[in-house]
Amino acid sequence: MSLEIVKGEGSYLIDKDGNRYLDLVSGLSVNALGYQNEAIKDAIEKQMNQYLHLSNYFISEPVVKLAKLLVHHSFASKVFFSNSGTEANEAALKLARKYGSEKHPDKIEVLTFTNSFHGRTYGGLSLTGQSKYQSIFKPIVPGIEHVRFNDIEDLIEHVNPNTCAFFLELIQGEGGVHEVSQEFMDILVRLAKEYDFLIIVDDIQAGMGRTGDLFSYEKLNFTPDLLTIAKSLGGGIPLGAMLVSKRLENIFLAGQHGSTFGGNPLACRVGAVVLETIIQPEFQKSVKAKGFYFKKSIEELMVKYPHIMKEVRGRGLMIGFDVGEYANRIKALALRKGLILNSTNQTVIRLLPPLTISYEEIDEFLIGLDQILEEIEERD
Ligand SMILES: Cc1ncc(COP(=O)(O)O)c(C=O)c1O
Repeated sequence: MSLEIVKGEGSYLIDKDGNRYLDLVSGLSVNALGYQNEAIKDAIEKQMNQYLHLSNYFISEPVVKLAKLLVHHSFASKVFFSNSGTEANEAALKLARKYGSEKHPDKIEVLTFTNSFHGRTYGGLSLTGQSKYQSIFKPIVPGIEHVRFNDIEDLIEHVNPNTCAFFLELIQGEGGVHEVSQEFMDILVRLAKEYDFLIIVDDIQAGMGRTGDLFSYEKLNFTPDLLTIAKSLGGGIPLGAMLVSKRLENIFLAGQHGSTFGGNPLACRVGAVVLETIIQPEFQKSVKAKGFYFKKSIEELMVKYPHIMKEVRGRGLMIGFDVGEYANRIKALALRKGLILNSTNQTVIRLLPPLTISYEEIDEFLIGLDQILEEIEERD
């Protein structure tokens, strides 16, 4: 895509020639409240008039406020702020290794899923279970093994007394929108207790209201030890966080981890606006309802175009539908109709619209998609 965007408005992007596009990607799950949200603009202006950056030598009210909000609305007792998702995962990886090695020097093995995505720093890409991201950068961080997705037998084979953590996305985003099963989670939780390892949820894409719950673990019957978030958290300003459970809050001692910009006051002030919006029960209810409508309507198109549409997956406003070889063609035709789509894992169209998308906008997408599928069917 080589569009030059000059402005965003609500759920739309506007290019330099004045063309409007309905954005079903939202900066890859970042612009959860859409473009030009008034409360975000107001927060930026207010913070700009105080200070933009301080360093952690000082107490900064917006940073403390966001940390308290995250603690109040999750399992966590402490929060570490980063600038990005992959940095939040780096922090979690370091914490897990320290947790394990304090019990026993060999307890440093980390498990993640095949087909997962955890970022592009060395720790992040080593956790990522896709060789295409790793092969040209070898050697990767040692001591990380990949378990086949949702495969309980493979999990049992990999877990051992040296395991210190299992890192996982509960809905794989980059991997094609696949959900972890409750069955798998039940066994993972049992093994984590038995072998004393941490369960670390990477909620960078699926968290912050995307699934209709504040965090994606809420629907599954367990509580993570660590959780990483980013993307939507900063509402467009770079911000990530690692949420830490009570029993782990003193693993990192002062100076053992840190970041100059992580927890920047401007980013945190905007983050608090995003979080205060998303925690509203009505907001979460609306995401769930819109997600249900979206998915049901796409399923209807699947019945109408069975040769093209193979499967619809996902939760809330994180939806993927498999269109086999047609993914790139659908994306290109959509762009001509003013619809911005994203594909992942080659065959999957992944929808990550702003959580504030309206029903009229969803219908605009559905009508466009129907026309595109009809056109493809007629030509083939
Ligand atoms: C699940 C998941 N983890 C980690 C990352 C990396 O986040 P960032 O690009 O902010 O470093 C991403 C980004 O797409 C992601 O989807």
